[in-house]
Amino acid sequence: MTTTYTLSKASPAKTRADAVVVGVLQSDKGPVLAPGGEDVGAAFGRKLRPMLSSLGVTGKAGEAVRVPTAGTLNAPVLLLVGLGANVDRVSVRRAAGVAARTVRNDASVALALPADDADLVAAATAGFRLGGYTFTTYRSESKDDSPADLVVLSPLARDEAVRTAFDEARVVADAVATTRDWVNEPPGQFTPELFADAVTAGHARLTKGRGAPQVTLEVMDQDRLAQLGCGGILGVGAGSDAPPRLVKISYEPPAATTHLALVGKGITFDSGGLTIKPSSSMGTMKSDMAGAAAVIQATFAIAALGLPIRVTTWAPMAENMVSGSSIRPGDVLTIRGGRTVEVLNTDAEGRLVLADALVLAGEEEPDLVVDVATLTGHMVLALGDKVCGVLGTDDVVEQVLDAGRRAGEAAWPMPIPEEMSERIRSSKVADLAQHDWVRWGGGLYAAAFLREFTEGRPWAHLDIAGPSFNSGGPFGDWTSGGTGFGVATLVELARALATPDADPAGSGD
Ligand code: BES
Ligand code: MN
Ligand code: ZN
Repeated sequence: MTTTYTLSKASPAKTRADAVVVGVLQSDKGPVLAPGGEDVGAAFGRKLRPMLSSLGVTGKAGEAVRVPTAGTLNAPVLLLVGLGANVDRVSVRRAAGVAARTVRNDASVALALPADDADLVAAATAGFRLGGYTFTTYRSESKDDSPADLVVLSPLARDEAVRTAFDEARVVADAVATTRDWVNEPPGQFTPELFADAVTAGHARLTKGRGAPQVTLEVMDQDRLAQLGCGGILGVGAGSDAPPRLVKISYEPPAATTHLALVGKGITFDSGGLTIKPSSSMGTMKSDMAGAAAVIQATFAIAALGLPIRVTTWAPMAENMVSGSSIRPGDVLTIRGGRTVEVLNTDAEGRLVLADALVLAGEEEPDLVVDVATLTGHMVLALGDKVCGVLGTDDVVEQVLDAGRRAGEAAWPMPIPEEMSERIRSSKVADLAQHDWVRWGGGLYAAAFLREFTEGRPWAHLDIAGPSFNSGGPFGDWTSGGTGFGVATLVELARALATPDADPAGSGD
């Protein structure tokens, strides 16, 4: 069932619902009810403390305890969710995500987490939507047990800015959820062609009806890619029976003054090609299109929000497979614009498809370029599976890091050492060497290779190989499988670029 979301100023003690959710904070004096829970605390009165201690409630993040209210509140169940030691956007979003998974059998839920500003209301709303995310397309019994009604309680529910934040949070969270859907699709069911079809369907939905945003979509097939000279995309796609595609999306609102180009890696399955991956590394490689999914869904969300910024998005899609028509180590590919690349490792395919797309993006002379890619396992070794690496020109790297902080997505800067460029020029047969067998700093080498195709433009590269896919169990608003990482950061980046005089000081937390 799709959940209906409403925003209300009502008291959690008086609200009629199957369950009321309140936050618990860890403090020196033990667990305390978080802001938003005052009326619930008052209703329980002196019984609250002994109840918390006898239930073993600590307020630790991830904790969820169901309590029967026995008439104390208008709801029969009180759900206490841990916030950890602090109230901030991330702790509230994660607690709301935990709550969403705990209230599954309740038809109506009232969320009374800390919500005394617009950012916290947005965090609670998005966290609930995403924590309750499920992917049931391929389950024979796919019962959706999410609540029919969710009421987000906030003392500022009548405030215009808070209402806007509440509406916008759902737009962005829906884009994140669709990104997860796309990543979770089985790779045989999501070839480049089928991925492009899904984008076409999403575009049709977005642009339908009165007042819908104007967004244009172009899907390029192999013939068109050959005309354009996209040897990288065609080369990587050559080993697969499923031909490659390039998707271009343009959103150009009249009020825009800045032009942002987005590029996303869309490898629908990465077997490694002839430089084949070991089985243990191949199992999650349906997620190698997460960058393309993120830039496309971010673009749709930016358009749906009507942000006054021009966005052009490029998503090269290919399947990296093993066959008699695969590219070989030693082959030379000609990238759009004429530069030649010696392929030395067919598993370093992302940079090949991105090279074509970066050149095409640059031909329109955007003010800045941001690419998002599940590019290297090296970045996962360096930063783990919850943090993305950001590399590029200093200005755009800073802007992306700021946007990540506002979005609550962890991002960390990484350098592109100058000497990497020499190694990239070390091919004995072509202009550039796609790879060398020095393993150290492989994520930086990959970024240095991409930089060759940016012509010195303001640019940032987000290596999301780690955070794009959650191989473990649910964590806060993250569920297993695709995470939708990057969408929220890109929307925040677009927001900042669209309103450059807005106070960036309000951004940190
Ligand atoms: N898609 C992989 C990177 C990846 C690794 C994504 C782990 C998600 C999780 C990429 O195409 C790849 O295979 N990279 C190689 C680069 C190497 C050949 C320079 C890698 O990580 O080993
Ligand atoms: Mn690869
Ligand atoms: Zn890959």
